[in-house]
Amino acid sequence: MSAKSLSEAEISEVAKRLESQSAEDVLRWGIETFFPKIGFASSFGAEDVVVIDLISKVRKETTIFTLDTGRLPEETYEVMDQIRARYGVTITSYFPDRPAVEKLERGKGFYSFRQSIENRKECCGIRKVEPLNRALAELDAWVTGLRREQAVTRAALPKVEVDTAHRGMVKLNPIAEWTTQQVWDYIRKNKVPYNKLHDKNYPSIGCAPCTRAVKPGEDIRAGRWWWELPEQKECGLHVK
Ligand code: ADX
Ligand code: SF4
Repeated sequence: MSAKSLSEAEISEVAKRLESQSAEDVLRWGIETFFPKIGFASSFGAEDVVVIDLISKVRKETTIFTLDTGRLPEETYEVMDQIRARYGVTITSYFPDRPAVEKLERGKGFYSFRQSIENRKECCGIRKVEPLNRALAELDAWVTGLRREQAVTRAALPKVEVDTAHRGMVKLNPIAEWTTQQVWDYIRKNKVPYNKLHDKNYPSIGCAPCTRAVKPGEDIRAGRWWWELPEQKECGLHVK
């Protein structure tokens, strides 16, 4: 079955049913329905290594892709290799368009994203959004590690949705309702490899120059683009 054979009404029916089911049930439905045209977008943060462990229990050949922006922290590459070894999965990386990065760096330098929201979105556009669109062009459904607790912009996140920003493909957010505590309980119980930056007070990890540690009591995304307001902190991967 492909996305084309599921009407919007059918998807909303399934979405309603799966809303009360577990992350594994949501993944199992997605993989059984769309494999091999389903892929997990992984940044290898705590949520995403949990989702990989869950996927490995359903069908480990499921596509796992990452947007290698060229500015990721060393610790992220380390956990990617640990995950490859532990689960025997293939990680497909999508790199930004070389001429676009060369033009950006030649024209605006190496930290243009600090100068304005427009420049930050331009960099995310080149390093994340265009590669994501290339990855999604091959698929009918995609999976994320998004959670409602993470941000004001994510509070109403459904487990299954139609992604109108991407050709109406199906988007699965299997751990949407999980708390931070649940994520870490799962990692510890299942001994899932995780990004070592989490042990240094980095609850949310993106590109190295746009991520810092948080102080006690700060919001979990306070260290992402910390010079911007909470409602501005989306990089264009998740849009409506
Ligand atoms: S972001 O939009 O602010 O960068 P965040 O880091 O919270 O997102 O991650 C949310 C979800 O977006 C992840 O669970 C993952 O599905 C996807 N994602 C984020 N960054 C990447 C990346 N570099 N490669 C692949 N997927 C990513
Ligand atoms: Fe560029 Fe920062 Fe966005 Fe990474 S997070 S793509 S370095 S602006």
